[in-house]
Parts: sequence; structure tokens; C-alpha cells
Amino acid sequence: MLTLNVNIDHVATVRNARGGTEPDPVTAALQAELAGASGIVSHLREDRRHVNDRDLRLLRELVTGKLDLEMAANEEIIKIALKTLPDMVTIVPEKRQELTTEGGLDVASNIKKFKTLTDRMHQKNIFVSFFIEPDEKQIDAVLKAGGDMVELHTGVYANVKNEISIKKELTRLNKATQYAHSNSLKVAAGHGLNYFNTTAIAQIPNIHELSIGHSIISRAIFVGIDTAVKDMLALINQARIQGMLEKTANGEN
Ligand code: PXP
Repeated sequence: MLTLNVNIDHVATVRNARGGTEPDPVTAALQAELAGASGIVSHLREDRRHVNDRDLRLLRELVTGKLDLEMAANEEIIKIALKTLPDMVTIVPEKRQELTTEGGLDVASNIKKFKTLTDRMHQKNIFVSFFIEPDEKQIDAVLKAGGDMVELHTGVYANVKNEISIKKELTRLNKATQYAHSNSLKVAAGHGLNYFNTTAIAQIPNIHELSIGHSIISRAIFVGIDTAVKDMLALINQARIQGMLEKTANGEN
């Protein structure tokens, strides 16, 4: 089963451009859920450039599916997470100057710190995912840090242009997925996925969740959130069916 979690941060970015109240990211989250999204993702940044504390409070109250709070391992945000109780947190690297999250988190460089963070979240029954590069060393580090899930960074895959590089990145993502899965971690993928490059990712066996924001919110400007989410869900389901048919045709089932 592959599910779609929709990141609504960019609705907040548009609202914040005028410092007012519209468009409201919480309304966007509820519309995305009604359209079939299994979860809502939002990144509470230190500088609150996307969603703010009020948004997170309302999201926690109103989202009925899974609420995934993306966050840096920053004490202020950790305290907010422990109080707000999202269903899961995805730990990401965060730099103030970046346009968006650039690259995966280096869990291996500080396993002790991330283990403490995981333990604190687990005490409140919050599921913990780490956003990492598709790299066995980082997956091993997540296992040592007690994480429940890895979100594999698809940004490099999304940015490469020629077929050889695309194939190389897909192989890297597939290998990392199977390695994490064989070690009992759940696997998600995200960053830079859109209506053109998601099919190949959705066909990787054992990926459980996709986390997609920018492309869905961009399409929603023209067609509305309902259609934008439904278009992505249709694409994912079609990719999964096609993948299964190909496996059967190759005698793999
Ligand atoms: N996953 C993580 C960890 C992210 O930081 C982001 C960007 O906020 C996404 C997924 C979604 O990326 P995009 O907006 O490119 O779909």
C-alpha cells in the first residue's frame, strides 16, 4: 500500500507574502484530506517562514488522517512537537538561508543526539522518521538512533536531466529502499516529486508513503486542491498497478 501525504507549506508561503490570513493552509489541508490524501505534512521552521504555531495547533485539532510534522532537531521545536503531539515527526536538516530543505540529514554524524530525540518522541507515542540520502550508512545510523522510518531524499533524482543519471538515481533509491525495508524500517520518499517524475518512484516496491508539496500546490492554483490531489493519487495508483502487472509478466510473482 502506497499512500500520499500532502505538504501544505506553500499555501502558508503565499499567505505570509501579504502578512494576512489568506489563503489559509489549514483549509488547504482539510481539502487535501477530502480529496483522498492519507496525511498532511507541514514544516514548522525556526523562522516560521511557512506555517506558524497557530496553524500547527489547528492542524492538530482538525486533521483526521496522519499529521506529519517536519522539523529540525532544535530544542524549541522539539518542545512544541512534544506538546502538540503530531502522529509523526520527520527530522530534517534546516539552514536559515536555504530556499527549501537541501539534502538529507546526516544522522550518522551524531547518533547519540538523534537517539535521545527519538526516545523523547517515543515516550509520547510519536512515530519518528528521518529524512536522509538514499545511503546505507545513514540507514544504519537511523537504526542505531531507534528511528521507525526513513524518508529518502528524491531531490537529486528530481533534478538530474539525462536518462543515465535518472536510472542511476532510481537504482540508488531502490537499493536504499530494499535495505531499509529488510531492516524493518518503513520507507517514504519525497522532495521535488511532480506529475512527471513520480511514476518511477511509485513503482519501487516497499515504499509506503510519498510526501509531495510544491507540485500539488502549484497545480492547485489552476485546477483547485481537490483536482490536484486526485490527479496525483490517480497517477500513483496507475503506477502501482502497472508495476504489479510488469512483475507478473516477468514471472516475479
Ligand atoms: N519531504 C521533505 C522532508 C521536505 O523537506 C519537503 C519540502 O518541504 C518535501 C518532502 C516536499 O518537497 P516538495 O515540496 O518538493 O514536494
